[in-house]
Amino acid sequence: MKIKPIAKINKIIKVPPDKSISHRAVIISSLARGKTLIKPFLRSDDTRATIDCLKKLGVGVKFLGKISVLIRGTGLYFPKKKKVTLNAGESGTTMRILTGILCAQKFAVDFKAAAALNKRPMGRVVWPLTKMNANFMNRSQRAKDIYPPLLIRPSKRIKAGKFKLKIASAQVKSALIFASLYADKITTIKEPYRSRDHTERMLKLFKAPIAIKKGVIHSKSAANLKSPRKIFIPSDFSSAAFFIVLGLILKNSKLTIKDVNINPSRAGLLRVLKRMGAKIKIINKKNNYEPYADIEVKSSKLKAVEVKPSEIPAMIDEIPILCVAACFAKGKTTVWGVKELKVKETDRIKAIKTNLKAAGGKVSAGTCGGRTSSSRDWFISVRGPAKFKSAKFLSFSDHRTAMSAIILGVASGKSSIIDDTTCINKSFPEFKSLLKSLY
Ligand code: S3P
Repeated sequence: MKIKPIAKINKIIKVPPDKSISHRAVIISSLARGKTLIKPFLRSDDTRATIDCLKKLGVGVKFLGKISVLIRGTGLYFPKKKKVTLNAGESGTTMRILTGILCAQKFAVDFKAAAALNKRPMGRVVWPLTKMNANFMNRSQRAKDIYPPLLIRPSKRIKAGKFKLKIASAQVKSALIFASLYADKITTIKEPYRSRDHTERMLKLFKAPIAIKKGVIHSKSAANLKSPRKIFIPSDFSSAAFFIVLGLILKNSKLTIKDVNINPSRAGLLRVLKRMGAKIKIINKKNNYEPYADIEVKSSKLKAVEVKPSEIPAMIDEIPILCVAACFAKGKTTVWGVKELKVKETDRIKAIKTNLKAAGGKVSAGTCGGRTSSSRDWFISVRGPAKFKSAKFLSFSDHRTAMSAIILGVASGKSSIIDDTTCINKSFPEFKSLLKSLY
């Protein structure tokens, strides 16, 4: 794709529904008997993977027009007797969070994935679920990690657990919460830092017995989930983030993005950008089961900041685009505690370094703390403002790397190219057409 610079923008736009909430909405609706209408629902490669799995498990799925989906739920136990083979495609969320439900079913599952997901670690869900008595055939004491396919056999009885997680991961937390719906006693989960809480919020909407006390999640068996019958999904903050940054770094510009999810456990980027001097206004705020609002941004003179490890979980998917913003900020921005970026769709630390350098950015990364290589964390530093040049960007087959690089190219004032953009369909199929409408 050729990337042409944009001089300025002044527009009101809308980005697609939230990906994380879309996964949870269809999954939890499947676990509640009867019909639930989800409108709007994100249609992308990742959410399609979840839908395909649910269909194979016997859940009724009917698309109504382009933006709605009607789910006919089966209850907590899917109506299957024989072994089911599922495929999560490239969607880590699909595989990790569904596994928490599948380990409690009365049938075996061979859970496969596409090549890119076969390289991503699954020990983080397999090991704690095994403590809850889940029965994985690929459990191995000696293995450093576990990779797909997951071979899940029925468990005699899922037991409650008490977890103090080492990594703040909403996918791991969600898998454990889902498994806890099948255990008789209370499961407690404590995270090192709060990760996105969409599962907790959606389960509350379905009247599940889940409570958060002093930052600890308490969850137990739910005889039934009660569907609210209609679910509205706000726009995806992670997709909005690319345009929030674009509006800030282009000169003489103003951009309003409508109905964006501003859940505090997701929108950490806003807090960091405001510290950088960004002109951001939150307007028309609505408090639904998830809060959402219009986000108005104006061209801003950004200055460098330090970002602490405790801030990372609430902006885990926005580090690539934050580093783009840092190229336009005066001074050295350092983002601490970003080790998890190494196990996303690609090693995003390497991807950020490669693309920022290609455009003339000054960037470095390295390890910090810890005595052993596995306990060390990572940081990224970006020094701005950069002297930009035409770049040949690489997507590394990662949607967020591709979109961040395109925004960098658009705002750099130079013409650039990127090798591949098909990966963008994972979360934001309309990205290119929306960007085109801004020229
Ligand atoms: C997600 C959680 C995050 C995030 C991913 C989606 C989710 O992953 O990076 O894009 O929907 O729960 P981790 O939980 O592994 O941090």
